[in-house]
Amino acid sequence: MTEAPNPAHMTPDPTAGLEGVVAATTRLSDVDGRNGILILRGKRIEELAGTMPFESAVQHLWQDLDLAGASSLPQAFGEARRAAFAVVPLLETASRNLTVFERIELGLAALPLTGGRGDAVAISGGLPVLLAASHRIACDALPIAPDSTLETATDLLRMLTGELPPAAHADALNRYLVTILDHGLNASTFAARVIGSTQADLKQAVLGAMGALSGPLHGGAPGPVLDMIDAIGRPENAESWITAALARKERLMGFGHRIYRTRDPRADVLTAGLRLLGPDNPKVRLAEEIEAAALAALKRAKPDRPLDTNVEFYTAVLLDAIGVDRSLFTPLFAAGRTPGWCAHVLEQQQSGKLIRPSSRYVGPTPA
Ligand code: ACO
Repeated sequence: MTEAPNPAHMTPDPTAGLEGVVAATTRLSDVDGRNGILILRGKRIEELAGTMPFESAVQHLWQDLDLAGASSLPQAFGEARRAAFAVVPLLETASRNLTVFERIELGLAALPLTGGRGDAVAISGGLPVLLAASHRIACDALPIAPDSTLETATDLLRMLTGELPPAAHADALNRYLVTILDHGLNASTFAARVIGSTQADLKQAVLGAMGALSGPLHGGAPGPVLDMIDAIGRPENAESWITAALARKERLMGFGHRIYRTRDPRADVLTAGLRLLGPDNPKVRLAEEIEAAALAALKRAKPDRPLDTNVEFYTAVLLDAIGVDRSLFTPLFAAGRTPGWCAHVLEQQQSGKLIRPSSRYVGPTPA
């Protein structure tokens, strides 16, 4: 074998990241990155988030899929929560070393499912139970059984804390879960569609999507956003902290996006939700100062690349404001996105087509 020069090491690889490649046809959502518009099944995100509970938005997204059968979706999700609680004893006996995210994945693998389309309800409805139980196990607290008569957002907060949440907190969580319900062919949704295209079942596709979501360039960003806000601590530190981070070639978490060249519309939806929680939160004021300093610094550092606030910046601030621990930010993202993943998998499977692209070989040639 002769070692040919590797062009991938010398020139930028135009295929890296599949940027600009259309890899699916969908009726579910559209991301207009130039104009900062997100549409879910014919409605702008601003019409959905903050105006309805999570279940209603899922119903809207799933309207062609007929997944809840004779039940209403809130009722079906309530039943799914009850069914998911049956796997909690397994979560309690699993290794203490698992993260909350990994314990949820374990619970998902153990959910009693049929392998059919109805699993979309069992997984999407049941995941909040796995999330709350995994958090309580991590805190050495006893898991709390679901109340299937409540809405998902209210019951999720109740299962985390043991107390019925203030209505404003449940509203804020509903707003968040709807905001992140679906978002075109993002990395985790693409991963789900690839897995689904092999006719693997929904559980496997959601597990794969969770893996893709967990990275800091995708759904792992909001925890580090809050770490950054805490590390900066005071508005007067923002500029020097951010300048130093950019000088070290670090990425500012919560900024930049593959598709948006404007502010992510979901950031606006979440800031509107923060305003409803009250004007007096000093951390929110600090976050706004940090955002302004970051945008100015990014403009100086990358004048040719529009880098604006993405959904993750205000995800961190909103979830923190309603008392959610930062270890739950990525798991909550998964809970909100799961119905979107399921819808994409079913849509992909309807096409019957395996996703199998080609690669450009740049390795050694045989002698
Ligand atoms: N901070 C500093 N510089 C940045 C940032 C950032 N947040 N984002 C992009 N850049 C820079 C890159 O360093 C790169 O500069 P270079 O050309 O000198 O190397 C240039 O902008 C282009 O960056 P790419 O990585 O090529 O752009 P891409 O579209 O692949 O990146 C991404 C999108 C991964 C989201 C990026 O903006 C990023 O890393 N942001 C921080 C992490 C984050 O917030 N993730 C959540 C995204 S939203 C979501 O997934 C729900």
